[in-house]
Amino acid sequence: MWTLSDTTFTARSQAHQETIYTIGNGYLCTRGAMEEGYPDDRRATFIHGVFDAAPIVVTELANAPDWLPVAIFLEGERFSMATGTVESFTRALDLRTGVLTRAVRWLSPGGRIATITFERFASLADEHLLCLSCRVTPEFDGSIEIQASLNGNTDNEGLAHWRWQAQGESNGAIYLSNRTRQSGADVALAMRTQVEGTGQCVEQAFWNVQNAPTKMLKFAAKAGETVAVNKFVSVFTSRDTAAVVERALQHADTAITWADALDANATAWAGEWERNDIIIEGDEEAQIAMRFNLYQMLIAAPRHDDRVNIGAKTLSGFGYRGHSFWDTEIFMLPLFIYTAPHIARNLLNYRYQRLPAARHKAAANGYEGAQFPWESADSGEEVTPTWVTHFADRTKMVRIWTGDIEIHISADIAYATCLYHRITGDDAWFIAKGAEIVLDTAKFWGARAEWNAAKDRYDINDVIGPDENHEHVNNNAYTNAMAQWNLRMAFTVLDWLKAHAPDVAAQITIALDLNEARLAHWREVIAKVLIHQEASGLIEQFEGFYKLRPVLMADLEPRSRSAQEIFGIEGANHVQAIKQPDVLMMQYLLRDNYSAETVRVNYDYYNPRTDLAYGSSLGPSIQAVMACEVGDSEGAYEHFIRAARADLRDVRGNAGDGIHAASAAGTWHSVVFGFAGLRVAPDGSGWTIRPRLPAHWKRLAFSFFLKGERQQVDITAQTFGTA
Ligand code: BGC
Repeated sequence: MWTLSDTTFTARSQAHQETIYTIGNGYLCTRGAMEEGYPDDRRATFIHGVFDAAPIVVTELANAPDWLPVAIFLEGERFSMATGTVESFTRALDLRTGVLTRAVRWLSPGGRIATITFERFASLADEHLLCLSCRVTPEFDGSIEIQASLNGNTDNEGLAHWRWQAQGESNGAIYLSNRTRQSGADVALAMRTQVEGTGQCVEQAFWNVQNAPTKMLKFAAKAGETVAVNKFVSVFTSRDTAAVVERALQHADTAITWADALDANATAWAGEWERNDIIIEGDEEAQIAMRFNLYQMLIAAPRHDDRVNIGAKTLSGFGYRGHSFWDTEIFMLPLFIYTAPHIARNLLNYRYQRLPAARHKAAANGYEGAQFPWESADSGEEVTPTWVTHFADRTKMVRIWTGDIEIHISADIAYATCLYHRITGDDAWFIAKGAEIVLDTAKFWGARAEWNAAKDRYDINDVIGPDENHEHVNNNAYTNAMAQWNLRMAFTVLDWLKAHAPDVAAQITIALDLNEARLAHWREVIAKVLIHQEASGLIEQFEGFYKLRPVLMADLEPRSRSAQEIFGIEGANHVQAIKQPDVLMMQYLLRDNYSAETVRVNYDYYNPRTDLAYGSSLGPSIQAVMACEVGDSEGAYEHFIRAARADLRDVRGNAGDGIHAASAAGTWHSVVFGFAGLRVAPDGSGWTIRPRLPAHWKRLAFSFFLKGERQQVDITAQTFGTA
C-alpha cells in the first residue's frame, strides 16, 4: 500500500489535488499541477529559503520559475483535457519513490486519439535535479510536436516576485535566470531534453521566447509507436552559489539516463523509508494515510541545509506564505528527532542562528533574553502579519495578535532543543548550540514574568495560548507551565554544562550574564508562577476561563463551521469553545509532571469543549494521544483518523493552500506515543511501550533511534494491552 491514485479530474478539486500530489526532495517541492496548464491551477514550486517581500505583504516564499511546462500537439491540435474527450485518466503517486505519473487517453476535437503519459520526480539522490518524462503513443500516423519550456512568468497569487535576468542556449541546454525583486535572490534553471522511444524526431529547435525559453521537438509518428521526451532540469539559487547559471548549466550537462535517474532516486528513498516507515496491518486507510503524511514530511525536510525551517504548509502551497511556527518544534521535530536526527539538527540550527533576531525581538519589547517570533521566515524577525482580511467577510480587516502575544513559542523551541539532546545524546551540539537556546529563552521568561505583590505570585499576562479562540488572556496554564519548565531546565542545563563542559559553562555564564541575583530570581519565578489547579486536579486554562459561558461542542451540532465562525472572532472570546488542546497539550508535553488521574480529570473536562472537528488542524492528533492515555479508545481512533485524513480528504476545505504539516507529523505522535504508548526514560537510558491499538489493527511496527542505536517496535495482536 504505497500508491495514492485517482481516475477522475475535475477543475473544482484541482487545488486540493495539486497539494496532495506534490513532489519534492527537501530542497524544493512542486505542486501537482499539470504540465499543459489549466486556467485555475495554482501551479507552484517553492525552494527552501527563497523568500521575497513586497510592499503589501510580509515576506513570503517566492513561487519559483516553473519547470513543468510541456505542450503537446497532435497534428497541430493542442492537448488539453478541457477540450476533446478524455477517454481515460489515471494519476498515481508512488509514495515509496516520490514519482508522480499520469496517463490520459485523449480524443482530440479533430478525432485523433493518443495515449499520453507523464512521469515526474524531484530526485532525492541529487537535490538539484528535476526529472520529467512525456510519452505519446498515437493511434494515427502523423505529426506530434512537443514544446518543453521553462517559464519565468510565475507569481504568488497575483503578486510578481521575479525580474527576468538572462536566458539562452548553451551546448544544447537551455537556461533561464530570474532574480527576486526585493531580496535579490537569484535562481537559474537549465534544461536538457532527451529523445527516447521509437518515434522518429524530424526537427528540433530552440525558441528564445522572452522569459519562457522553449525547446521544440517534432516527430513523424506512426500509429502504435511511442514518442518519448525526457526533460531534465537543474536548479541552483544564489543561496547555493554566486554563479547560478554556470552551475545549472554544468549540472544539466551531466549525462544521465532516465532509468539511472529513476534508480538513484528510488535507492535514496529506500533509505528514507527504512528509517521512517510505519507498518499498520488491519486498516488499509490508516496505512496509506500514515505513509502519505510521512511522505509529505520527508519531501519538505531539508537534508543539506541548516539555514531553513519547514513552513506550516510545508513547501506545498501558498498558505501562511512559507512561514514557520511552533508547528515545527512541537509537531514535526519529534518525528525527525526519533527517525532522522540529522534533519532535526538542521532545523534546530536554523533557530540557533536566529538567536540574535530573537534577542532583538525581546529587547524591542523591553525584555532580556531571546524571544522567538511567532512566525519566522528568513531573517528570524517577526513576520506575522498584523492585519488580514476577515475569512468570512473580505470587506473587513482583522487584527492578528499572535505575533505580539503568542509567546509560548520560545519555550516550545527550548523544549525541542532538550528533546533532541535527550533522544540523540548529541552532547557536542548541545554544548555548542543547544544550551544557549535553553538559557537565553529562560532569560526571556525571567524578564517576562510580572510580580503580583497583592497575590504574592508571578503572572504572565496578556498572552494567547495554543487555543487562539481566546486572546489577551492572563496566566494561560500552557504558557506558564512551559515558562516554568524552561526556567527549571536552565538550571539542569547549567549543572550539566558545568559537569561536561566547564569552560563553556563559564563562558556562557558571562556572556548571558547569568549572575547569582538572576538565578535567584528565576528560582522565585519557578516557585511562584501561577498555574491554577483545583483539588480535583482540574487546571484552569487561563484566569477566568470557568466564568465564560459554558459551551459543549455537542450543543453546536449539527454544524459545518468552526465554533469561532459560529460565535464570531469577538464572541468566541467569551465562551468556553476551545480551538485546539491547550491544557491537554501542556499535559502531553510535560506528561511526567501529572498523574494519570489528573490527566483524566482534564481530558473529561476539556475534550467536550474542544473544537476538534472544525477548529485547528493541530488538535486531533494530540487529542488522540491523550485519549489513549485515559483509555478512551473510541475517541482515540476518531481523533487519529480525523488527523490522518486532514489533507487526503480535505477535511477543512483548505488543503488547496498546502499540507497541514503539524497534523501530518502529528499522526506520527498519535501512533507512536498514543497507540504504541512509547515512553523514553527521562535520561534517555531506555524505553517502554504500552500498546493500546485500535481493536481492528492487527499489527503496528516502526523503528526509531535512541542515542544513535536503532530500536524496533513490533506490536502484533498477541501483545495487545499486555506489554
Ligand atoms: C493554529 C496554530 C498554528 C497555526 C499554523 C493556527 O490556526 O491555531 O496553532 O501554529 O495555525 O499552523
